Parts: sequence; C-alpha cells; structure tokens
Amino acid sequence: MSDAGDQQWHKAAEPEELAEGGVKMCALAGRMVAVVCHEGRYAALDNRCPHMGGPLGQGSIEAGLLVCPWHGREFDPFTGECATTTETVETFPAEAREDGIYVALQKSEA
Ligand code: FES
Repeated sequence: MSDAGDQQWHKAAEPEELAEGGVKMCALAGRMVAVVCHEGRYAALDNRCPHMGGPLGQGSIEAGLLVCPWHGREFDPFTGECATTTETVETFPAEAREDGIYVALQKSEA
C-alpha cells in the first residue's frame, strides 16, 4: 500500500504529533511540505506560498483555512485554493496510519 504508480508515500509526523488544528512543516524527499490537521482529516500542501514564498508550514489554521504567516493569505488546506485571490497551492494526498501521518509525493518530485 505504500507505493502505487508514480506516487511514493513518506512519513511526515508521528501519530500524536499533529493535534487538531495543528500545522507542521516537513522536509520530505528533498522538498518542504506543510501538513495540516483539520476536523480530524489531514492535508498536505506545498510549503511555499504562491504569493511571495512564505512558509505555509509555519502558518496556522483559522476558521478552517491555512493562514500564511507572512501576509495572511488564506488557503483551503484540502484544495489549496486561496480564499481571496486566484492563487492555488499544490496539494498532496495525506492520510493517518497507525504509525503516523503519511504524505504521497510524485516520484518525479521525490
Ligand atoms: S507570502 Fe504568503 S501571503 Fe504573502
């Protein structure tokens, strides 16, 4: 189950590491990813804010949106869509397993 097609799953956090409303910046296979827990679901996004490159993994969840720490753009953590502009952040599959939170990256990106 760990690898399928051109995707490869990477462990991003321990099971208890990402609490509800938590945001974590992770280095996975050479790229930075922001991992989020919201309403019991996990989401993973490119760490780089499309505005000016702010570190989304150092942002926070407010009203269900991931807020960039630099200028406050808000992104849906599951779709990557910005609430106020047409900017979009790349998103990746994320899931909780018994031994941690996993994120799938394209093998070509890994
Ligand atoms: S860099 Fe994220 S809002 Fe400006």
